[in-house]
Amino acid sequence: MGLVRPASSQRKKPPAAFVPLLEPLRFPTADFPQPWSAAPFTARCLAPGSAARPAREIRLQGIVLRLPDSGGNGTSFRAYCLTCPHEICQVNFTTETTGVEPAPERIPPHPLFVCPCHFSAFDPLADGERLAGPAHRGLYRFKLETRGGAVAVLRIERAALV
Ligand code: FES
Repeated sequence: MGLVRPASSQRKKPPAAFVPLLEPLRFPTADFPQPWSAAPFTARCLAPGSAARPAREIRLQGIVLRLPDSGGNGTSFRAYCLTCPHEICQVNFTTETTGVEPAPERIPPHPLFVCPCHFSAFDPLADGERLAGPAHRGLYRFKLETRGGAVAVLRIERAALV
């Protein structure tokens, strides 16, 4: 008889939910001439209401990055929200990792997102995943589309709006 894993170990993380921005943002791909080229932006979003508070418009700072090509599959772009999921400081896109644990030799050699408040660090090459620090999750992500020579930022992870 085979080993039966407990149900909890078979559970997958549910996919993140995304909601449309109030206004999509577009950037010409020519604005990203080489890997790690970046374009910061401010996105207008609608934060959901509750019984105690009506829905309201909020503005989130974000950044579009051109990542290094992976295996010749073409250029890839990502867009991340710069609000740290720990206590909402703004993270920096940087190669400066002073204060980040683990030890420097375990930190990837490419630019990271680093929070100046409590030194959470996030990996842009791993979907914004948390590498270090007290944040409970990775960076909130924007969904984008690359088409017709432009990168369009269209949606934000719903969890960023609460
Ligand atoms: S607010 Fe970013 S690590 Fe605490």
